[in-house]
Parts: sequence; C-alpha cells; structure tokens
Amino acid sequence: MATVLGIETSCDETAVGIVDHGHRVRCNLIATQFELHARYGGVVPELASRAHIERLDLLVHEALEQSGCSPEAIDAIAVTRAPGLIGSLLIGVTGAKALAWAWGKPLVGVNHIHAHATSAAIDLDHDPWPAIALVASGGHTSLYHVRDYDEISLLGSTIDDAAGEAFDKVAAILNLGYPGGPIVDRRAAGGNPEAFRFPRTMLKPPSLDFSFSGLKTAVLYQIHGPGKTTGGLEKLTPAQVDDICASFSAAVVDVLVEKTMLAVAGTGADTVVVGGGVAANSRLRTQLAERCRREGLRLHLTPLAYCTDNGAMVAALGGHLLARGHLARLDLTAAASADRS
Ligand code: KG4
Ligand code: ZN
Repeated sequence: MATVLGIETSCDETAVGIVDHGHRVRCNLIATQFELHARYGGVVPELASRAHIERLDLLVHEALEQSGCSPEAIDAIAVTRAPGLIGSLLIGVTGAKALAWAWGKPLVGVNHIHAHATSAAIDLDHDPWPAIALVASGGHTSLYHVRDYDEISLLGSTIDDAAGEAFDKVAAILNLGYPGGPIVDRRAAGGNPEAFRFPRTMLKPPSLDFSFSGLKTAVLYQIHGPGKTTGGLEKLTPAQVDDICASFSAAVVDVLVEKTMLAVAGTGADTVVVGGGVAANSRLRTQLAERCRREGLRLHLTPLAYCTDNGAMVAALGGHLLARGHLARLDLTAAASADRS
C-alpha cells in the first residue's frame, strides 16, 4: 500500500501526517492555534482560516523533511473535506489540490469523523473491522458501525452539545481555561466522582443518540444555585471544583459507555474502537477498558497522539480509501456539513 500525505484543517489545528500502508506513521505534525483563540474562549473561524494559510505550506515542508520523504516518494495526497468550519476546510482542500496537481499525485477526500472513527486502527498490524466506533470530540459525539474503511454507517449522534463541547463549557463555567477537556480531566483526577449526582441523559433506549446540554445546565445550577447563572463560583473551594470536575466527567463517561454497549448489543459486534478528542479522557479510557473486559469485547483505544485532530488519521484513512479506489478529482469541494460529504 501507498505512502500518503494527509492534511487536516477542519477546525483550529493545522496538521500534516505522512503514513505508510495505512498503519505506519512516519510523521504527525500539528500546529495548534490554542493561544490564538484562548482569549475568546472558543475558536474564531476567521482567525483559524488565516492561521491555516500561514502555516500549511511550512508544515508540509517540515513533514517531508522530518520523514525523509521527497515529493516523489509520496503516492497520494489525502485531505479532510468535511465536516468542519468551511473557511478552514477550504484552505486544506485548496492546498491539497495544489500539491496533487503540482506533484502529479492522486487526491483523496476524507470525512473528518470517519477519520476519528478509524484512528484506533493506525498503530495496529491488522484492520479491526467490523466494530462499533465511538467518536467523541469537540464538534461530534456519534456511534458508528464500521464494516470497512469505506463502509461506515451512523447509528446515533448528539442532538445538542457534543461531549467535548460540554467539557469545554463546564471548564468555562468554572473559569478553568480553554480548551477545557484536558483541564477538567486533570482536575477530576483529584476529585470524588460521587460527590454530586449529575443527570445521565439516556434519551429513550434503544436510541443511540446523545444529549449533554441538560448535564451542562445541572453543573451551572449546582455552582450558582437553582435557576441562577452567576454568583456561586467564588464560594467554591479548589477541592469542590475538583469534585465537580470528577462528578461531571463521571456523568459524561457513564452515558458514553452505556450507549456504546447498547450499540454493541444491537449489532452483535465484538469489537469497540474509540476516537476523537474526548477519547483522550482518562476516565473514559479506564471505564471502557473495564467494561469491555467484563463483557468479553475487544477494545482498541486510539493512541493519545491521534485522539485530537491530526494529519496522521487523515493520511491513514486516505491510504485505505485509495486502496479501495476512492479517488477525488481536482474539482473536489469542501463541505461544512457531513450530510453533503
Ligand atoms: O477531535 P478534536 O480535536 O476536535 C474536534 O473534531 O472537535 O476534539 C477536541 C475536543 C475538545 O472539546 C477538548 O476539550 C476535548 O476534545 N478533549 C478532552 C480531552 N482532551 C481533549 N475532553 C475530555 N478529556 C480530555 N482529556
Ligand atoms: Zn476532530
């Protein structure tokens, strides 16, 4: 199989990866934009696209240099084409088309969430399909039935906030900084997950959809008092903040684990894979490992380096899609929504 250069610019990370045979990562470079967006408490789309323009070309050259590859050694260019911020996606897609044209290489368009769904397979020496894939990130929380790299069907997704978005919002409510997921995760390690009983919204089982907005509101009212949105934060001790982080994380993780098990039961799958930024969450990783062990299921957690947005997952999936004949033309377009991808 081929050596593929993958480009990821769907949100606030400019990322380039080079992957051999869909599984062997030669390099995985990420230029984060945290410092650019931190003062606004979230991603500012215009700033993100401009930063992608400034960084993409440099990153491609650095990736070639680091992996010791010349452009001739690259067999194809893969790029995230949907879903995401349209301005950001366009920079990556345009850059990828320019490289494909200039180097005379095939082009592959990749769905960002499918790349997260298959990222657990990157370092494996085999393809783990069929499997249930849980993708939990800042923009998406979904369950998929993955039969192959090009046979991925959606089983359920969030009807409001994504899991990562809930982490970010709770961190903002607690004034802990941005992006909130890793900070809440660290604070949760020192807290009691049973200190507060936050709601686990399961919707109507066997629905495989998710809802996290009620949980976020429950945290808000726990801090400020019922129906209030200010005034309570300064009364919290650091230990209480840790307890809120731990109890909130426990509620999110319980729902993610239960719904994943529901998807397993509904499909008869014996393998679970997990990807997306929230797949880096320590409690989610330990709870899923424990549950899958008890249920006799194989579990592949995405390695931490490939949980948040990265180019390696795009290059890896691009390699598998290329092998299955999914080539894009130079009129490839970006799409903000997954529906049109
Ligand atoms: O996959 P990703 O980089 O971007 C999207 O496709 O959305 O995910 C970013 C999200 C953010 O919401 C971030 O707070 C969350 O993943 N995240 C975490 C952790 N690390 C990143 N959430 C919980 N625990 C973590 N350790
Ligand atoms: Zn992502």
